[in-house]
Amino acid sequence: MAKPRILSGIQTTGDMHLGNYLGAIRNWVELQSDHECFLFMADLHAITVPHDPKTLAENTFKIAATYIACGIDPDTSTIFVQSQLPEHSELAWIFNCITPLNWLERMIQFKEKALKQGDNVSVGLMDYPVLQAADILLYEPDGVPVGEDQKQHLELTRDIAARLNFQFGSEDKPILKVPEPLIRKDGARIMSLTDGTKKMSKSDPSDQSRIDLTDAPAVITKKIKRAKTDPLRGLEFDNPERPECHNLLGIYQLLSNQTKAAVAAECQDMGWGQFKPLLAETTVEALRPIQEKYQALMSDRTYLQQVLANGKTKAQAIAAPTLDKVKAAIGFARL
Ligand code: TRP
Repeated sequence: MAKPRILSGIQTTGDMHLGNYLGAIRNWVELQSDHECFLFMADLHAITVPHDPKTLAENTFKIAATYIACGIDPDTSTIFVQSQLPEHSELAWIFNCITPLNWLERMIQFKEKALKQGDNVSVGLMDYPVLQAADILLYEPDGVPVGEDQKQHLELTRDIAARLNFQFGSEDKPILKVPEPLIRKDGARIMSLTDGTKKMSKSDPSDQSRIDLTDAPAVITKKIKRAKTDPLRGLEFDNPERPECHNLLGIYQLLSNQTKAAVAAECQDMGWGQFKPLLAETTVEALRPIQEKYQALMSDRTYLQQVLANGKTKAQAIAAPTLDKVKAAIGFARL
């Protein structure tokens, strides 16, 4: 039997941090053994906000190298660049024409990002989730592993697929497969080092709030040393009064590959002065092999180019027939 297919991507804006690794990429690496994985760099999404043309391509390579360095195997998984496949933009256009504007006006992420952009909100920013729906539906995946914050975009994706099926398909023969979100309940949600109630994010203006995957050991150690804590002794998970404590223990648990119970027992009598050096050491050691592999990949552009060219071919073999199917259902002339 064919393996179930999953698809996911990361926007190529800014550097990859611990939250991207523990919250997303590591999960894909686990899924990789028994799923057919399509993983891409969302560079079309990166230009929905003002961007620097000098770093756009480099960010794409950096993320591709990060995927592989973290354990995505380019021989079994398909790694590709969104802008390399015109199918994404083309299907997004068709979806634009069947998506009611008020569905997009409701999107929480749009409203938040638009607030930050002031007068400079592009049509593309509002259209972001429609492009995301195209990204997903082109591959007819069984599941889409994403964080909690993408839940609304996945619901929209399902709504767009259902609407297309309803308007242009027949009940017994839907045009597009409606995918399931794969949002892990116990999933790692890595929070900011300066505020345990906010997600670790590349858009946080403070560098101190996140650990970048390429941070040198001394930088990692310093960031952890300065991370926000509380005055209590004895460390614990799940105390709503102690979000930073929960977050730092969670990072330690994941990076040391232990169970939550084991970490809870190990740390219950510790103070921060004892825990922070332990966490710093664990983080540095866990990231060391990833960093080494990343550096090697970044200095071998020919190899990366080859992986992405290969990925494009494999992705297009799935995406192109899906787009054709939709165009036929819509009624375009076939020459
Ligand atoms: N919006 C996603 C994010 O910010 C990135 C993304 C774009 C994506 N297209 C996608 C994720 C398709 C999953 C599937 O993380």
